[in-house]
Amino acid sequence: MSEQLRVGMVGYAFMGAAHSQAWRTVNHAFDLPLSARMRVVCGRSPDGVAAAAAKLGWESHTTDWRALIERDDVDLVDICTPGDTHAEIALAALAAGKHVLCEKPLANTVAEAREMAAAASAAQTRGVRTMCGFNYRRVPAVALMRDMVAAGKIGEIRHVRAVYLQDWIVDPEFPLVWRLRKEVAGSGALGDIGAHIIDLTQFVTGQSITSVSAMTETFVKTRPLPAASTGLSASSDRSSHGEVTVDDAALFLARLTGGAIASYEASRFATGRKNGLRVELNGSLGSLVFEFERMNELQFYDATRPGPEQGFTRVLVTEPEHPYLAAWWPPGHLIGYEHSFTHEMRDLIEAVATGADPAPSFADALQVQLVLDAVSQSAGTLQWTKVEEI
Ligand SMILES: NC(=O)c1ccc[n+]([C@@H]2O[C@H](COP(=O)([O-])OP(=O)(O)OC[C@H]3O[C@@H](n4cnc5c(N)ncnc54)[C@H](O)[C@@H]3O)[C@@H](O)[C@H]2O)c1
Repeated sequence: MSEQLRVGMVGYAFMGAAHSQAWRTVNHAFDLPLSARMRVVCGRSPDGVAAAAAKLGWESHTTDWRALIERDDVDLVDICTPGDTHAEIALAALAAGKHVLCEKPLANTVAEAREMAAAASAAQTRGVRTMCGFNYRRVPAVALMRDMVAAGKIGEIRHVRAVYLQDWIVDPEFPLVWRLRKEVAGSGALGDIGAHIIDLTQFVTGQSITSVSAMTETFVKTRPLPAASTGLSASSDRSSHGEVTVDDAALFLARLTGGAIASYEASRFATGRKNGLRVELNGSLGSLVFEFERMNELQFYDATRPGPEQGFTRVLVTEPEHPYLAAWWPPGHLIGYEHSFTHEMRDLIEAVATGADPAPSFADALQVQLVLDAVSQSAGTLQWTKVEEI
């Protein structure tokens, strides 16, 4: 393992910390052809980014993402900033010949996502790789779910039932953080957590969403301005308020290419639900259920078993034969949220080293963006809406 993949990361808060953990550990868990080197991290505050570099393990820091991209000692740019910056940073990085990992959702609009996917496709001909950070694909139980569907274990899929439920803005006094402002976040629960279940269900089923019928709601229309710029936890300045310009909750029905019908619910108002991502598939031969808060398990109902023996089986996904798990602990020794990012970096490094295209590509992420857009349109018109083709 002599050659390096030198990384420059933009943004160092929630996802910045998760990605840093993954870059720090990936070569210690997996034998890979390239060694990740954490060259430089970028943030807007000089003191903040210096402290983050020291804490997270970056060799240097800057407040100028353009300078980061121009550096000769950076091979890959890792974008961990809010959606309003993704397109500009990714396009500049691709133009400079850098590989790009971009957090989800790919962009705030379809137009931006199209431009990014086109630039990625042009860069690909020059050996430059792109990936979008839908990390839940890399949870071993989710990867196993996909393998079992592909192996025909549940037959023809009839139902897809997906929810992603959180409750961190139930309090109307929770401040107007960037995730509640359309010009920064693009959309609300829909793009933030709905995007994950769109990608995840399409990934495990191998089917794409073709049309949707949606509704969205914003329960709390104005909120106190934040005292400080923050992510999922924040304090507020109660003396002045601003308008919430995104959805608090998004629900939609969908049809998929393989004939399955689906329901989706994304909400930040599901009181008591912290990170309640759940996907259930019902097929002609069985069912599979994944729940993130029990992320080391997969539930499998095998309808081909003799009637008296039928019932949901809890598969503990910790065996070395399960996806990614040979690198970790003995069976029954559980892994956590952060491992999904380590697995993401593993797959990305493998792809860069072998000249393969990592998944999900920017084109895959553009398709998710087209679904998000169709949901927004349908919620406005209250009509069934076709998902535009790429
Ligand atoms: N994969 C996941 O599960 C997951 C989870 C959370 C967030 N995300 C995505 O990750 C991205 C970031 O979200 P987060 O939760 O980490 O946000 P955050 O608010 O915790 O962090 C954002 C970071 O970006 C920095 N930043 C903002 N604008 C910048 C600029 N112009 N130049 C340099 N730095 C800038 C901020 O200083 C901060 O360090 C978003 O696209 C979000 O949707 C993905």
